[in-house]
Amino acid sequence: MPDRYAVIGNPVAHSKSPQIHAAFARQTGHDLTYERLLAPMDGFVATLEAFHARGGLGLNVTLPFKGQAFAYATRLSERARAAQAANTLKFEGQSIFGDNTDGAGLLSDLGRNLGCALSGRRVLLLGAGGAARGVIMPLLEQQPARLVLANRTPGKAQDLVQDLGIALEAVAYAALAGRQFDLVINATSASLTGALPPLPAGVFAQGALAYDMMYGKGETPFLAFARSEGAATCADGLGMLVEQAAESFFIWRGVRPDTAPVLQSLRQATA
Ligand code: ATR
Repeated sequence: MPDRYAVIGNPVAHSKSPQIHAAFARQTGHDLTYERLLAPMDGFVATLEAFHARGGLGLNVTLPFKGQAFAYATRLSERARAAQAANTLKFEGQSIFGDNTDGAGLLSDLGRNLGCALSGRRVLLLGAGGAARGVIMPLLEQQPARLVLANRTPGKAQDLVQDLGIALEAVAYAALAGRQFDLVINATSASLTGALPPLPAGVFAQGALAYDMMYGKGETPFLAFARSEGAATCADGLGMLVEQAAESFFIWRGVRPDTAPVLQSLRQATA
C-alpha cells in the first residue's frame, strides 16, 4: 500500500498540489498517493480525522483552514507559530506536527529561481492578511535594508506588526508616494477579484522585482501595473507554490525534490 497524503481545503478542486507531489514522488522514487480533500466549511477536523483513520500520513492545508490546522496541531514549528497558521500537517504517532512552509517557499523562489538577494534591499510588502503574516518573519531574517508593510486598512497592518512584536513601518498606500523599493511583494487577495492595490506611481526602483503571490492564467493586474511602471522583473506565485510544496515533501519524506523541472512543466501547462 502506498503512503497517503492529501491537500485539504474549500474550495480545493483548483489545487495544483496533487500534480506537483505526484511529480516529486516520481522524481524521488517514493511510493505515495496524494489526493484532494474537500472539507465542508464546518467539517475540517472531521474530514482530516477520517483521512488519518484511512491511513493518511500528512496533509497540506489551504484556504480557509490554515488557522484551524494551526490550532489542531499538537506540536508546532517556530515558523508556524510566527505565522499563526499551518499549511503542513504530519501525523507522528499520537502527535500532530504543524509547520508553515509558505515563507520558505517564497524565499526559495526569490533566491534560487529569481536570483534576488534580499540583504540590503528595500522591500515593500502589500497586505496584512494571512498571506502577508506568513512571510514577514522569514523576510526579516534575510536582513533587508528596510521592510515596509502597506495595507488598504492601515490599522490592520499596525495591529499585525504589534502582534508580531516587531518594529516595522506599517502605512497606508498613499504614504508610499515619493518612495522607492527594490522588491514589491503583493500578498493581498486583490488579484483574485481582478483588482489592483492602490499603489502610487513611482514605487518601483530601477531594476526592481515585482512579485505577486497569486498566479493564474495571464498576468495579474498588479504585475501588469508593475510592468507599465518599469519594474525590471515581474514574477507570479507559481514558483512559490512549487517551492513550498518541496519543503512540505521534505518534512514528510526527508528528501528535498528538484523543483526546477516541475516548475518548468507547470509553466508550460499554464502558458
Ligand atoms: P489572506 O489570508 O489571503 O491574506 P485576508 O486575510 O482576507 O486574506 O486578507 C486579504 C488582504 O488583501 C488584506 O490585506 C486586504 O486589505 P484590507 O485589510 O484593507 O481588507 C487586501 N485586499 C483585498 N482586496 C484588496 C484590494 N482590492 N486592494 C487592496 N488590498 C486588498
